[in-house]
Amino acid sequence: DKYVIGIDLGGTKISGAIADFNGHIISKYTLPTKAQEGEHAVLDRIISVVEKIIEESKVEKEKIISIGIGSPGPLDPREGKIITTPNLPFKDFNIVKPLMDRFNMPVFLDNDANVAAIGEYTFGAGKGTNNMVFITVSTGIGGGAVLNGKIYRGNTYNALEIGHMTLKKDGPLCNCGNYGCAEALASGTAIGKGAIRELERNSNSSLENYEKITSYEVFEEAKKGDKVALNVLNRALSYLGICVANVITSFDPEMVIIGGGVSKGGHMVFEKVNEVVKERCFEAMYNSVRIVPAALGTDAGVKGAVALAIMESQ
Ligand code: BGC
Ligand code: NA
Ligand code: ZN
Repeated sequence: DKYVIGIDLGGTKISGAIADFNGHIISKYTLPTKAQEGEHAVLDRIISVVEKIIEESKVEKEKIISIGIGSPGPLDPREGKIITTPNLPFKDFNIVKPLMDRFNMPVFLDNDANVAAIGEYTFGAGKGTNNMVFITVSTGIGGGAVLNGKIYRGNTYNALEIGHMTLKKDGPLCNCGNYGCAEALASGTAIGKGAIRELERNSNSSLENYEKITSYEVFEEAKKGDKVALNVLNRALSYLGICVANVITSFDPEMVIIGGGVSKGGHMVFEKVNEVVKERCFEAMYNSVRIVPAALGTDAGVKGAVALAIMESQ
């Protein structure tokens, strides 16, 4: 009976859990990230989360063997560093060493989408597959690939930073500083911004009744038939489809798993993505790939980090 800790470090919250090797969660705790307070304040909150879950789990400390952390990238996991992140104000921040010193166990860092890919492969929709890609579409867009049963990390551990693949030359500015990235065209953030821009030109939409417009409101109004919302979604989801098609053309996976807030848009999302993939990919690949929603839901981040810790401890 050994246990591991999984930490999901996100732009808005830090979630942590202790789990056994079957991914069964014993205790769980979440704090707001409050990234604007700086790296060290965030580190202190990660430490508080870990202390809290250890205490509440009542598991003897000796039985907890490692910590896995998923964070948006780009990262340098070999150095334990978050290099910079378009969606968190970190710069060359070593997150692994202070946690190792504090808790006296191995700490493994990896990209949040890689971690979710490992989680879906181990415990979720990708169980039993050999080649699968996970794509998260929320504030940002990220990817992770399990190829021949192994997570594919690439030369610098930043493989599948697909949110920053250019889909439109001279397209909208991305948080990474580049233009026309998938993330700037098809993320949840892009959908919200796209709707606001559209309302400035077209005032004939029920979206006008909202004080705050995110992708959630756009999906809600699109479902009721609002034309502006439908147009905005159609454009963003077309780009998401192109992004997925490019990934399928690159990796020829058995399965593409889509998670993150935007995937909750349900059939609207999967219909459009499938349509574009059918248009853009070779038939052999399109016919064999299954494009499915993530199975781990709101626990995807922590369960993935748990799966990373287990994988690296074996
Ligand atoms: C980051 C990725 C991350 C994704 C989802 C992107 O902006 O560059 O590393 O996986 O957001 O959080
Ligand atoms: Na990745
Ligand atoms: Zn970018």
